[in-house]
Amino acid sequence: MTRPQVVLVGPMGVGKSTVGQLLAARLGVGYRDTDDDIVAEQGRTIAEIFVDEGEPVFRAIEKAAVRRALTEHDGVLALGGGSILDEDTRALLAGQRVVYLSMDVEEAVQRTGLNAARPLLAVNPRKQWRELMEARRHLYEGIATAVVATDGRTPEEVTQAALDAL
Ligand code: S3P
Repeated sequence: MTRPQVVLVGPMGVGKSTVGQLLAARLGVGYRDTDDDIVAEQGRTIAEIFVDEGEPVFRAIEKAAVRRALTEHDGVLALGGGSILDEDTRALLAGQRVVYLSMDVEEAVQRTGLNAARPLLAVNPRKQWRELMEARRHLYEGIATAVVATDGRTPEEVTQAALDAL
């Protein structure tokens, strides 16, 4: 399996795409995002997949997309925020350089708000965020080789902190 130089994980809205592209430019490598892969492959948005088929089907599509991207891509790879819920996916990440971009719940609520494009935040985002963070924080921490806090930082500052942590 090819090894992406850096895999970015973390919650929705933490800035994986923005930081991932900045990081790829600084490292002189390509950038890839599994959410973009899924939308391109499926010809519909993530929200449409959730509405049409529900979360379990989305997670199966996502699992395959992550596996494929890990095999094919040799640069910076950003994963969808929930991809780490899958045990096999977490096992695939062992031995990779995995940067966890973290933020606290209030920052998450401020950044994302009520968000129809993000089906998990379509109702009561503060409660949803608390539950998501509670359920996932230890999974992110368990696979990360570096943790970079993003609260109150610009994308450029986060990118520099990620480079320093690599
Ligand atoms: C999700 C995160 C989203 C997207 C979907 C579900 C999650 O990706 O895959 O809305 O479960 O956290 P981003 O983290 O790229 O926004």
